Amino acid sequence: MKIDVSFSANHFDELQLRDKNIVVIDVLRASTTTIAALAQGAREIIPVANIESAVKISGSLFGEVTLRGGERSGKMIEGFNLGNSPLEYTEATVKGKSIIYCTTNGSVAMSKSRYARNLLIAGFVNMSAVVQSLKELNNDFLILCAGHSGTSGNFSLEDAVCAGMIVTRLQKPELLSLELTDGARAAQALYKSFGRSILKMMKTTDHGKYLVEIGYAGDLEICSGIDTMPVLPQLSGTVIKLKK
Ligand code: MLT
Repeated sequence: MKIDVSFSANHFDELQLRDKNIVVIDVLRASTTTIAALAQGAREIIPVANIESAVKISGSLFGEVTLRGGERSGKMIEGFNLGNSPLEYTEATVKGKSIIYCTTNGSVAMSKSRYARNLLIAGFVNMSAVVQSLKELNNDFLILCAGHSGTSGNFSLEDAVCAGMIVTRLQKPELLSLELTDGARAAQALYKSFGRSILKMMKTTDHGKYLVEIGYAGDLEICSGIDTMPVLPQLSGTVIKLKK
């Protein structure tokens, strides 16, 4: 099993990701919010690459079962129903709903992966479910870190540490024969350096500090929880749903 980690999704396009096994991580906050929405009963997440696509798709879906969620500069997009805080995606709001989802980096990485063979959405909050699924898959895969929004797709420490935690957990117990690329080894080294307190690490990262500044300190607490949302979002057709 070969594990690769890319620290940005910028240099990939759909064709390069086609038929690959992919894990998308955007801990702050798109992957965590996707996991939270589905854990709270959303029917599906429809990731799109830009606002124009979100508007276009909304027009072709029934209004009462569809919500638009996402962000620009961390804040809700005008005309959308929801922002990008996992705390907004409550059962009362999202149960049974299809969510057209547009964020700066996370939904773009998910949308680019729509022709993947397998696509899993990972965060700290569903760590064990992701690791278990990758063990069962027992095949090569690429972890695609979405990066953060300061400058689109920039290296993001919290995503790299999360990727490193997946790699480390797959190594124990040593049942699988793993081949790690330089990216996977670098992610693992970062997890070993910064993984002791995930919340503490997040509070010092570029995007973590930005989210605190714009009033989302509570999101860091949610996004740093380990196994607090034990569900597995995966690609189903061209949308993301929970694995049954
Ligand atoms: C993104 O997709 O870039 C992020 O999820 C931004 C955010 O924190 O809302």
